[in-house]
Amino acid sequence: IDESAPSRTLAGRTLDALAEYIKSGKAKKVVVMTGAGISTSAGIPDFRSPDTGLYANLARLNLPYAEAVFDISYFRKNPEPFYTLAHELYPGKYRPTITHSFIRLLHDKGMLLKHFTQNIDCLDREAGVPGDKIVEAHGSFARQSCIECSMPYPEDEIKKHIEAKSIPRCESCKGLVKPEIVFFGEQLPADFFKHRMLPAEADLVIVLGTSLTVQPFASLPSMIREHTPRLLINKERVGGIGSGSDDVLLIGDCDAGVRQLAEACGWLDELESLWAQT
Ligand code: APR
Repeated sequence: IDESAPSRTLAGRTLDALAEYIKSGKAKKVVVMTGAGISTSAGIPDFRSPDTGLYANLARLNLPYAEAVFDISYFRKNPEPFYTLAHELYPGKYRPTITHSFIRLLHDKGMLLKHFTQNIDCLDREAGVPGDKIVEAHGSFARQSCIECSMPYPEDEIKKHIEAKSIPRCESCKGLVKPEIVFFGEQLPADFFKHRMLPAEADLVIVLGTSLTVQPFASLPSMIREHTPRLLINKERVGGIGSGSDDVLLIGDCDAGVRQLAEACGWLDELESLWAQT
């Protein structure tokens, strides 16, 4: 038996055991991994929830299959469906949720090592999480460029097109312009690969609102060292989390789950007032 490896980090797989671990000051390098589930209460649909998910509601776009709306080869032939959707999803209309404020609170307490997100809504930035603490694994609407010659495209121009549901074209080569969100068939940003080993340094990993179905993001939890506490707050069990001796599960709504954890840590008032200012 390797005496150096911590035999058990949590005294049980309960929320109180996790809160004790956090209050003891042992959680200094927290890695958070999130997906669309943390933005649904802001009014942005997730992708795969039955009935309410985006992929269940794209019939009006006459797609060959739902994920085509984010497929680069389909976009090249037919950019209209994406730009119809972009009109609905474009950032600026949505308020961060209390879950986004919880991630900001971890940063304020000097505990956040990195927030890996699959979301393109930038709500974590708007909640005050610093950019250098965020890895936007699937890009974001923050920048846009030509998919042929990579020429950057002005933000005010693309906003006009998205507002009018028209298709922006590159001013130099007339190629299609696309926000720098990662489409199926495209590479993830270098920033993801630069930081993808970070979960191995974590002393607590919190997974929030994701089905963990899309690679390579879904491989992040497998980087976690054995006996590092893992907390899953999600409407359903995912990623095999819950079977480990140091796993804690809060199966249900993530806003309710972060409030439960904050309360167990004695942070609830601080969290509520932080969110109230957002
Ligand atoms: N509270 C907790 N969990 C929630 C909530 C909520 N309010 N709403 C949804 N969920 C859960 C769902 O049960 C599901 O497990 O969040 C998860 C959302 O999963 P997806 O819809 O698959 O979203 P995500 O995991 O972010 O998708 C990954 O797929 O289409 C690509 O690029 C796209 O980044 C996206 C990627």
